[in-house]
Amino acid sequence: MYYPDEIIEEVRNKNDIVDVIGSYVKIQKKGSSYFGLCPFHNEKSPSFSVSGHKQIYYCFGCGAGGNVIRFIMNYENYTFQEAVKYLAERAGVTLPEVEFTEEARQKQSKRDKLLEINKEAARYFYYQLRTDRGKQGRDYFTRRELSEETMKKFGLGYALKTPNDLTLYLKNKGYSDDLLVEAGISAFDERFGLHDKFWNRVIFPIQDINHKVIGFGGRVMGDGTPKYLNSPETMVFDKSRNLYGLNFARTSRAGNFILCEGYMDVIAMHQAGFTQAVASLGTAFTSGQASLLKRYTDEVLLSYDSDGAGTKAALRALEILKEAGLTGKIINLEPYKDPDEFMKHLGKEAFEERIKQAENSFLFEIRMLKREFNLEDPEDKTKFHKEIARKLCGFEIEVERENYIQAVAREYDIGFENLRRLVNRYAAQTGGAKPVERPKSGIKKRQTVEDHKKRTQRMLLTWLTDEPEIYRQISKYIKPSDFTEELYGRVAQMLFADLSEGNYNPAAILSRFTEEEEQREVASMFHTKLEGIETKQDKEKALRDIVYAVKKNSYEYYTGKLGTDVSALQQVIDGKRALEELAKVHILLS
Ligand code: UTP
Ligand code: MN
Repeated sequence: MYYPDEIIEEVRNKNDIVDVIGSYVKIQKKGSSYFGLCPFHNEKSPSFSVSGHKQIYYCFGCGAGGNVIRFIMNYENYTFQEAVKYLAERAGVTLPEVEFTEEARQKQSKRDKLLEINKEAARYFYYQLRTDRGKQGRDYFTRRELSEETMKKFGLGYALKTPNDLTLYLKNKGYSDDLLVEAGISAFDERFGLHDKFWNRVIFPIQDINHKVIGFGGRVMGDGTPKYLNSPETMVFDKSRNLYGLNFARTSRAGNFILCEGYMDVIAMHQAGFTQAVASLGTAFTSGQASLLKRYTDEVLLSYDSDGAGTKAALRALEILKEAGLTGKIINLEPYKDPDEFMKHLGKEAFEERIKQAENSFLFEIRMLKREFNLEDPEDKTKFHKEIARKLCGFEIEVERENYIQAVAREYDIGFENLRRLVNRYAAQTGGAKPVERPKSGIKKRQTVEDHKKRTQRMLLTWLTDEPEIYRQISKYIKPSDFTEELYGRVAQMLFADLSEGNYNPAAILSRFTEEEEQREVASMFHTKLEGIETKQDKEKALRDIVYAVKKNSYEYYTGKLGTDVSALQQVIDGKRALEELAKVHILLS
């Protein structure tokens, strides 16, 4: 770690976790904490909690947890240093200059090197577009009506006609052949040796959400094939988890995202002011990309090509959006092929209008389904109606289902009652209007004795962080050594030491663990709640029971160690005394 602990603490203290997380995730106050939808997994009801009191976040669903630094690391994909730097800037804390030793340089991970190569290459392409040799590329973009400003914003570039100019340039900078191939910038073959991957193409650099270049798409300027050549997947370029344009779109505040098929579509949309446009990366839309979008929005508008292939891709994308809990709608681009062409011919006001008229995904699906049937033929028509009924069964909520039955009946001129009967019959056949299987997350795994022991220890630690004033009472009976789980013992040691000095700082305790797994576990120790306690008496009884259970476990644990561990005897004697006392006393809460 490069920064001194005091500085890290200062940065952490000056960044209130509720403020910071609140700027990324919609959270609402509920009791003493804030709750929202977890940005680290897909969920429909909020189990992600942020405690201003503890300065810790914790997800009861997926177990993600940590302090504000960990949140930024995970959310922004930052390293620890990057997260500290970001938060320091946010709070106006000046960080000391970090000296990179030669050794530290050597240790720089391969990931960083690949990112560096991508950055160098992007700069090179960018530069070439603006030289005489890049005139052809510049003319191409101008023909496609891109402004200087747009070319700059997206860092557009040009790859020369020469076979290995970029490769030589990067080799001169000291990068090895292997690394250049691994970065996807160069390729090797018998005829040309080590050569550039992109020749004579206009270049679209692909950036991750932090504006780091992770790959490239290169388009031919005429009719050659392939039309687009893309970087291969590399250690830094995961095509299923990034989206073109997301680095800009995520701060657009439009309230929705517009998902397009192509790079040029995204660029044309941004140029027209629709900065919420993104596209997948030369591959079909994936569930990883859907969860990425889910971090920022609930609604995605599809703006796919209006041809057959585009429709098919749109239907598939809608399914993926639905699975991720996102609402999908379809923008009709007719009579144009794609958003880029639409924008050129009809302009942004017309597109704005199309956004307003975007079609509900279900009605779109039915409309597309209709194309598969010949409605002049009674048999085919019946099949169509049955298929509609089958799909309508997917709505679990009755009012919603009824509304859709109504909408579809009206649109396709089917009798409302007839369609409803058909739906009911279908539902009866297939066992209720509920064909979608949901993960049964509500069912608790059977608790083992071991789980139970851990759980009581966690409950006591949570209670201490929720209500540090109980420390005075608890410390009469419980010592950190009573937490027999190794990690729990270490945490208790720190917490007890702080509390005995009148300090209270759970988030600082978390900072002393560097591994993500440990931080998650510590966060869970501070978030294990007892449910359903209402009266003060219940609470006092529950607390005594928990203290008793922790002590009893410890007593048994040390009894088992008698003879092998010299300190065990003292623990056993203490334990016996405390248990006898606890059996008699009442813990009184103020
Ligand atoms: P399109 O063929 O619709 O291209 O492919 P486009 O984006 O409209 O491009 P222009 O307007 O003709 O220049 C959509 C996307 O599919 C990927 C690219 O990501 C492209 O943006 N694609 C297409 C490829 O990866 N390779 C190809 O050969 C073609
Ligand atoms: Mn196009």
